[in-house]
Amino acid sequence: MAASVHAVYFSPTGSSRTIAQQAASVLAQNLSLTHAEDWDWTFPEGRVAAYNVGAGDVLAFAFPVYSGRVPQLLLEPLERLAGQGAHVVPLAVYGNRHYDDALLEAVELFYTRQFSILAAGAFVAEHSYTSKVGAGRPDTQDMAALADFARKAAIRIAQGPGARVSVPGNRPYKALSPAADIRPKTLAGCTGCGLCASVCPVRVINEDAPSQTAPGCIRCCACVKICPEQARIFDDPLVNKVVGMLETNCLARREPETFFAD
Ligand SMILES: Cc1cc2nc3c(=O)[nH]c(=O)nc-3n(C[C@H](O)[C@H](O)[C@H](O)COP(=O)(O)O)c2cc1C
Repeated sequence: MAASVHAVYFSPTGSSRTIAQQAASVLAQNLSLTHAEDWDWTFPEGRVAAYNVGAGDVLAFAFPVYSGRVPQLLLEPLERLAGQGAHVVPLAVYGNRHYDDALLEAVELFYTRQFSILAAGAFVAEHSYTSKVGAGRPDTQDMAALADFARKAAIRIAQGPGARVSVPGNRPYKALSPAADIRPKTLAGCTGCGLCASVCPVRVINEDAPSQTAPGCIRCCACVKICPEQARIFDDPLVNKVVGMLETNCLARREPETFFAD
């Protein structure tokens, strides 16, 4: 089968999808490869499906940084990929605070799966928790930087194998807090339309009674952002504290960062 480029992403609020698709499109164009179908890992069906990576394929893999790490529900689908020397361009998408160890974690995961990684990047998007942080990102400037990065990544890939790409981050990776059972509350304005249930990546919202949310929420904020009535909110001291910290300390614009192998 002819080598293809795939956009691969987990993207509850859509920014990682935008970034993966743009990168895949520019990579395909510049490498004269087919831009094949997306591998969308946002919903459980996508995360359990089987994906065959061809040795000449190129994946543009974008993911949201969660607590400075790769979202842990992606470890299983990542561990099922066999790279066989195919290329992957990992793209950490973060909400203008920092990506900490997430890009390093992704790069190391792909190396253990026998992928070639000659380029990687960290791009900024609106923070899932507050539209005041990373507001309007990725914007036109970000998308131009992404296209430029993807063009350079294509050139680097066409040049052939090289050293390992070096990206910032520490080992051991940033420790994750134990999972807390924090779920969004539903306000009186809820009309029961079910849009929230349709976008939940872990399917914990009851489709017939959307005010009922089962344990297992990952606080991705997809339901909060999509609700046309603004009837879903995180009214929790821990979340409020994080939002306060973000809105106080993380307003200064951060720029995309890109990394290439020698
Ligand atoms: C649970 C959670 C943890 C997050 N942790 C971070 C973080 O450590 N640093 C950061 O800058 N942004 C963080 N964010 C913001 C997301 O990385 C950012 O909004 C991302 O663009 C969302 O991607 P998506 O639109 O594809 O869902 C976090 C968001 C969530 C929901």
